[in-house]
Amino acid sequence: MVSFTLNNLILSATLAAATVATLSSAAPAVHIPRGTASSDPCARLGAKNGRNIKYKDVADCYQAIPIDRNLAATTINTVHDLFRDYYVFTDSALTPRVPAPFTSEPVNILKALKTIGGRKYTSDYQFHTDVRHAIDTLRDGHASYDVTCYNNYSFEQNLSLYAPVENGVQALRVYRDNANRGYEDCIVDKIDGKPALAHIRAWATQRVSCSHDVSARQNCALARQGYDVKKAAFLDEPGEFSYQSYLPEKGYVDYELHCSNKKPSHPIHLREEWHVYPQSEIAFEDVESYVANVCLKGEEEPESSPQGLSRPHRRNLAIPNKKRGLEEEEALAAAAGMARRRQEFGEAEKLVSGNATVFYHLKTQPDTGVMVVHTFDAQDTEVNTVLRGLTAFSNRNVTKILVDFQGNGGGLISLSSNLVQMLFPNRRPRDASYEADLRVTKSVQRAAAAGFMAEDGGYNIYNANGYYDLKAAGPARQYDNTNLFTKPVNISRNGRTTLYTQKTAMYFDPLPKNILNAVTKFPWTGRRENIRILTDGRCGSACGMVSYFWTTTHGVEAYSIGGAKGEDLSMFSFAGASVLTLKDIHDTYSGLNLTSPLGDLAYKNEVRFSWLELYGKNRTTPLEYDAKLYRSKHRLDYTSANARSREAMWKEVVADAWE
Ligand SMILES: *[C@@H]1O[C@H](CO)[C@@H](O)[C@H](O)[C@H]1NC(C)=O
Ligand SMILES: *[C@@H]1O[C@H](CO)[C@@H](O)[C@H](O)[C@H]1NC(C)=O
Ligand SMILES: *[C@@H]1O[C@H](CO)[C@@H](O)[C@H](O)[C@H]1NC(C)=O
Ligand SMILES: *[C@@H]1O[C@H](CO)[C@@H](O)[C@H](O)[C@H]1NC(C)=O
Ligand SMILES: *[C@@H]1O[C@H](CO)[C@@H](O)[C@H](O)[C@H]1NC(C)=O
Ligand SMILES: *[C@@H]1O[C@H](CO)[C@@H](O)[C@H](O)[C@H]1NC(C)=O
Ligand SMILES: *[C@@H]1O[C@H](CO)[C@@H](O)[C@H](O)[C@H]1NC(C)=O
Repeated sequence: MVSFTLNNLILSATLAAATVATLSSAAPAVHIPRGTASSDPCARLGAKNGRNIKYKDVADCYQAIPIDRNLAATTINTVHDLFRDYYVFTDSALTPRVPAPFTSEPVNILKALKTIGGRKYTSDYQFHTDVRHAIDTLRDGHASYDVTCYNNYSFEQNLSLYAPVENGVQALRVYRDNANRGYEDCIVDKIDGKPALAHIRAWATQRVSCSHDVSARQNCALARQGYDVKKAAFLDEPGEFSYQSYLPEKGYVDYELHCSNKKPSHPIHLREEWHVYPQSEIAFEDVESYVANVCLKGEEEPESSPQGLSRPHRRNLAIPNKKRGLEEEEALAAAAGMARRRQEFGEAEKLVSGNATVFYHLKTQPDTGVMVVHTFDAQDTEVNTVLRGLTAFSNRNVTKILVDFQGNGGGLISLSSNLVQMLFPNRRPRDASYEADLRVTKSVQRAAAAGFMAEDGGYNIYNANGYYDLKAAGPARQYDNTNLFTKPVNISRNGRTTLYTQKTAMYFDPLPKNILNAVTKFPWTGRRENIRILTDGRCGSACGMVSYFWTTTHGVEAYSIGGAKGEDLSMFSFAGASVLTLKDIHDTYSGLNLTSPLGDLAYKNEVRFSWLELYGKNRTTPLEYDAKLYRSKHRLDYTSANARSREAMWKEVVADAWE
């Protein structure tokens, strides 16, 4: 008998590693006779055609997929080499005790991957899950391991949860009950028999990878609102605990609730199954065809079209949100008849909106405007929307601006650099750009030699001409030779010495003159006392870059909301880098007519990693690990009111900041 027993996998930080090892070596081999629909677990799943799928259908199919030891060995070698030679934080991740507000453990990612490579797995699912979890321990929102084979079903609970503070006490409560049983704001005392808030904290510690800060990870795990561009409104989002894009540890969650508003207030016990959403329409009829159609790459995967990034002035590096967009969640929820509630504001008037920003005027505080920046995944032309929004504020006699960054997963670095300058115009050309460096290996040098000034050679990050030569005399200019890569420097971190490029900076076009001229006239421009930031710590990548400049360089004060009451909370997460995929590396080399030094994976995959590290001004620790620069000046707690109304939350911040 093969039962699916990952139940206890996650709950104890110290035991987790041992548990994984035990499970994977002790699990009996899965031998499923082929050919008969009733006996083949993937046949049962496939026959459902995406309808009425249960947790067990997916779990049984996943568990039935046989391990291919050769495939596993080449997979682990490729991922290992990627993290050895291209990932920029391999050495920094060894940092033994990162200061508050970080709480992450030191990670020897190469050793962890080698350990996985040395295990005799019987379950293919367990192997890929272990690789994914190992990458997730880096707590770098830019680093991830996903294979289509095991992420084409998502799982949602009808209850979503949050951790508001009421009367000075923080408790886990029901944020939303999709089944409309009246449980909203009931206190969740226990989850799976354990104290609920501690359980969520442990889950966020173990399973969430959005930040080095556990309080920020708690916010990633729990429900909140997010701005939806298509619906032009704030909508409820369930959070990573209640909406999981991987097979959860078991088929249900047990809750013990008490609802003080209900009489009598005795405990309510609920056993809630997962609602399963298929994410793909690929057909399969048994284990064999599941592997062939869903897991394995086809013979002819389409070649990616070159991004044309070799021209420095077009160097816009999109940093997509990690997994699950709100849009996706909404589409899935709508499909299941669970449309999320919209927010309507009585006293915040929407003036202007674009693809990344929304501008609200607060009627109760008419000198204050709110600029919501919910993503940087937009076009550079978004600066025109920002100018329209700021102009509308100015026409309303607004003098103070609250910037709401909650849930911003990043996007274009160039847009972030431009936004910095729209509130604090540059005095010198590179004021809004970071010092940075990249890893240098023999393979990187090969690409850099071939890639220098190469025209449209694919995703070519190794064209030195795309970077500033900070050593050059005179005005700032780009490299006109390959010295960036041919004259590397050794950096020693945590007992390892590795070659990096000299310090450089990425080149961005300056902000257009018409915009600069317009923004200098606004009453808040260059005035830190007229600007505040609001964040929940879920502000990644490009968003973190803006936060850093506004807070550290310009002294703007930030409010961060949520997390654990009384603890520091980061303003931003995974700020210090840019993201590429394994495929981008292959495309870079093939675009330069070179052989990629990395092998390919047999499974359809998305393996992401950070390739560039940024530094705060005059800092030697890369920003990704420079915890001191993350801590916000002000802390706020969620309440049942502000968690359900952005308007209420904004008013709280404005009252504290300016009254
Ligand atoms: C599901 O599979 C499709 C097709 O292989 C893939 O494009 C998609 O990204 C997968 N879904 C998720 C959530 O990863
Ligand atoms: C969630 O609630 C909906 C609406 O009441 C119900 O139809 C559905 O069966 C519930 N889902 C699960 C998994 O219990
Ligand atoms: C938003 O993006 C779409 C394309 O994705 C573009 O056509 C449109 O012009 C953009 N809107 C604004 C206001 O920038
Ligand atoms: C802005 O202030 C000016 C000068 O005090 C005033 O004339 C104008 O009516 C105000 N505009 C609005 C929209 O309040
Ligand atoms: C870097 O250090 C290694 C030894 O750890 C040494 O062999 C090499 O010459 C050094 N390279 C540079 C550029 O300093
Ligand atoms: C790669 O080879 C093709 C075909 O020979 C050639 O057209 C192209 O210019 C080469 N690219 C580079 C970057 O050398
Ligand atoms: C960085 O160091 C330089 C030179 O010591 C100094 O002039 C500058 O003010 C420092 N900048 C910051 C942001 O600390």
